[in-house]
Amino acid sequence: MSCFDVMPTRRGSGSLKWDQKPELRPFWVADMDFQSPPEVIEALKRRVEHGVFGYAVPHDGLIESILDYLRERHEVFSSPDELVHLGGLVPALSLACRAFAEKNESVLTCTPIYPPFLHVHKDANLNLTTVPYIVSEGKWTFDWEALEEAVTSSTRLFLLSNPQNPLGRVFSEGEIRQLAEFCERHNMILVSDEIHCDLILDEIVTPHFTALRLPESYAARTITLLSPSKTFNIAGMGYAYAVIPDQKLKNRFMAAQGHTLAEINCLGYYSAEAAYRYGEPWRLDLISYLKENRDLVTEFCREEMGTITIPDIEATYLAWLNFERTSIPNPASFLEKEAQIFLSDGRYFGGEAHARLNFGCSRSHLEVAISGIRKAMETGN
Ligand SMILES: Cc1ncc(COP(=O)(O)O)c(C=O)c1O
Repeated sequence: MSCFDVMPTRRGSGSLKWDQKPELRPFWVADMDFQSPPEVIEALKRRVEHGVFGYAVPHDGLIESILDYLRERHEVFSSPDELVHLGGLVPALSLACRAFAEKNESVLTCTPIYPPFLHVHKDANLNLTTVPYIVSEGKWTFDWEALEEAVTSSTRLFLLSNPQNPLGRVFSEGEIRQLAEFCERHNMILVSDEIHCDLILDEIVTPHFTALRLPESYAARTITLLSPSKTFNIAGMGYAYAVIPDQKLKNRFMAAQGHTLAEINCLGYYSAEAAYRYGEPWRLDLISYLKENRDLVTEFCREEMGTITIPDIEATYLAWLNFERTSIPNPASFLEKEAQIFLSDGRYFGGEAHARLNFGCSRSHLEVAISGIRKAMETGN
């Protein structure tokens, strides 16, 4: 038995996922139903036992763990002055909009996409242009022609999710280089949200190419956002960071904060440090478990359902289920009603007739989703 087979009781623990609609079994928001690595829990206990919770700063151990992580996992040699510590990635996306565009200029992104990407532009009174991803040679990828058509002289930023939520794609080095070249040609800032980059299910087949490894000439227009939060299930701790090697770009980004961001709490800092320092063996076990969950969901859709299509999931614990071949226009509300299971509604991501299933849970809990979908499709469709 794996530690990931154990389902902690989350209902009644102040959990967004479990307590928002307590009458349903939840497979929606992107956190996992697993305890964090024991070393993370230990580090938090030690910090709590200290008992003093005044204003915090990123301590030396955290900085060291981040720089070690960047070097060992991504072959990126960074330094403390390139880091901007943040309470989350979404505030960072918003901050980038405020820092690098003026009222009525635009942000560009591709859909389907994690919903805040479709809304952060409003914080800076900007416009949003979206271009759908397309399938080419069996893989979701950028529609370069449509992007060229969509971009204008007032498009200031491109917001990227890589690995992609909800498609589960890990973009190749070639795709990221082409995107960087596209941003340069149109004088745009590239904001690369890489929160899911340690959740790649087969790193030999689909390695992560971080925007931090682009040629130096792109550094003046590239911001990379990272966090151990998704991988080690500490998203509620509220810690993320940006890596911005170009100091002028970093200063512009930081200046746009004004007084809008709260202090980061000490538990966020300490849990991040422990995750990066000691979490690797746990992460590898997690990946093996998630792969089996991914295979189970994929097989169920492809071999048993047939009408529900699913992309090849290269990363994340999220499955983007396509119901276009069924007669169900809104699969999330259909499954809520027919199977009492709570998936994310695809419309929020810019995808009609889709639902996103979170398989970051024990196999027995995942079976609840699968049997719920099976039953609902038999009776309700
Ligand atoms: C691509 C992406 N970016 C950002 C976030 C959220 O980041 P944070 O909680 O740090 O704001 C998520 C959460 O699902 C995500 O999938």
